[in-house]
Amino acid sequence: MEMPAVDVRTYGTPAAAAFQASRHVTEEGLTDWRDAVGRALGTPPTGPILDLGSGTGLWATLFTRWFGVDVLAVEPSAAMRELSMHPGVMAGDAARIPLEDESVSAVWLSTVIHHVPDLEAAALEIRRVLKPGAPVLVRAAFPGRCGDLTLCEFFPQTLAVMDGYPSVETVRAAFRSAGFGFESLAAVPEVFAQSLSEYADRLDRYAFTPLRFLTDEEYEAGLARLRQAARLESGPVIDKLDLLVLR
Ligand SMILES: C[S@@+](CC[C@H](N)C(=O)[O-])C[C@H]1O[C@@H](n2cnc3c(N)ncnc32)[C@H](O)[C@@H]1O
Repeated sequence: MEMPAVDVRTYGTPAAAAFQASRHVTEEGLTDWRDAVGRALGTPPTGPILDLGSGTGLWATLFTRWFGVDVLAVEPSAAMRELSMHPGVMAGDAARIPLEDESVSAVWLSTVIHHVPDLEAAALEIRRVLKPGAPVLVRAAFPGRCGDLTLCEFFPQTLAVMDGYPSVETVRAAFRSAGFGFESLAAVPEVFAQSLSEYADRLDRYAFTPLRFLTDEEYEAGLARLRQAARLESGPVIDKLDLLVLR
């Protein structure tokens, strides 16, 4: 499947609203992420954390609360910035971060890495704004590691789209060229919804990049499978994405 480059026009106002309604998981569902990020940060950082490609600001809000640090948010899409629940989001992107050299104590990229057109340029720009020895935390669906996602169970075509995303090795190599080493990689669970029926109700085609590449027929068939499964009693929907830490 050919993967067209995704640019920020795909995060215009309707898509930003869909993202907010569909992808915001409750804080209780993210306790494993709180613990995993806390471990990666180590002792609470003294300077601010940068949330790069902060979207509607869920993680920036949670990090402020969880870790008691200032979070600076940078986001290229004006529609995302407008809907952000975190204040003061700056315009910028991974290749143009509007911050001083060595001014942040960690950089967080959550489901952003597959949108970045030039990973080497992004790694150099991140190196510039990060304090020496500080970590980059990448939350992502990596090819070969995301087949168990609920999305793939009902919309199997999404797997081929995610196979076109940058691999762990590609991201590591791009960041290696900017002086970053590998620290850790682990799949971290989150409670995405309390049941399949809540998952189905919240699902929005424009909130998940891989769904945008499906034909209408493929999408409708997947939705029908999902609605059918949701008729049966189901437990919580728990999905895992990876946390890759580079330093
Ligand atoms: C799937 S959303 C994730 C938003 C947020 N990080 C989260 O996890 O809730 C992807 C975000 O990446 C942003 N983005 C796209 N291209 C980018 C780039 N080159 N640099 C930084 N962010 C980018 C989009 O505008 C969008 O807000």
